[in-house]
Amino acid sequence: MILEEKLQGVEKEIEGFYEAKQIAPRLVESILYSVRAGGKRIRPLLLLELLEAFHAPILEAHFQVAAALEMIHTGSLIHDDLPAMDNDDYRRGQLTNHKKFGEDLAILAGDSLFLDAFGCVAEADLPASIQVQLIALLSDASGTAGMVAGQVLDMEGEGASLTLDQLQVIHANKTGRLLAYPFQAAGILLELEPAVATLLEEIGIHLGLAFQIRDDILDVTADFASLGKTPQKDLHAEKSTYPALLGLDGAQAYLDRELDACEDLLDHISNQVSFEGTGIKNIIERLRIHGQGKS
Ligand code: IPE
Ligand code: IPE
Ligand code: MG
Ligand code: MG
Ligand code: MG
Repeated sequence: MILEEKLQGVEKEIEGFYEAKQIAPRLVESILYSVRAGGKRIRPLLLLELLEAFHAPILEAHFQVAAALEMIHTGSLIHDDLPAMDNDDYRRGQLTNHKKFGEDLAILAGDSLFLDAFGCVAEADLPASIQVQLIALLSDASGTAGMVAGQVLDMEGEGASLTLDQLQVIHANKTGRLLAYPFQAAGILLELEPAVATLLEEIGIHLGLAFQIRDDILDVTADFASLGKTPQKDLHAEKSTYPALLGLDGAQAYLDRELDACEDLLDHISNQVSFEGTGIKNIIERLRIHGQGKS
């Protein structure tokens, strides 16, 4: 399946989920404003690519799980941008949700996206035991043991000088858990043997960290046009980041190391089972900032 079909499949599920829920039309408008703004959709794409790599046919239920993950992620961005958090005016190339709809509706749009995601997985045509595992994992990755906890630590860390270990815990939770979800969810959906599922989980952890290191580097080096959000925000908010702690070159080297680890682990999987990892490797390679190959 080509990339465009995957993206359209995820978007169709999110749109479809909200189609019949017009009790408060402005709420749905606000949710879809942020969803339709786009974004890279890396989390859902990773899940769909992984399923294909294991030669599994992509079913509507898989699109629903991928859509649920994108819903949580989009909700996290709406809340991350609020004045009480990072106070950002632009996201995905357009005004942030609260700038367009007001803080009250933006908070509630985020609430809806967080809660609706679980309904979206529950609606999927999957065996109940798999559904429950996917829902439990999505809750764990998103809530008090995952993304939200990371966001709290991120806020508390503003203005403080953190160690690399402390920063790693923040990144692993605020960003890493949702990036790792596709790798864990693929293991659950395909009922993979534990040895392979464990390798996948390890890839998810490395990729999650790599993704936030990359985001921190781009905050320093990229411009508004390519980011779709205001650059140089971390410095102004006195956030601890990889470039702040290690310098740009150090952060770059760390990013490459994490991405190399992902690719090595993918090779391990290919050596154990029938796994066509090219699609996943392409996504990983695109995360390298200077585009250099594996070092
Ligand atoms: C941005 O995530 C926030 C982080 C977790 C680093 P993305 O870079 O995936 O944002 P979109 O979805 O492409 O807009
Ligand atoms: C955001 O991290 C992480 C989540 C939204 C959970 P950032 O605050 O660095 O993300 P951007 O740079 O605003 O996209
Ligand atoms: Mg933030
Ligand atoms: Mg932010
Ligand atoms: Mg950032």
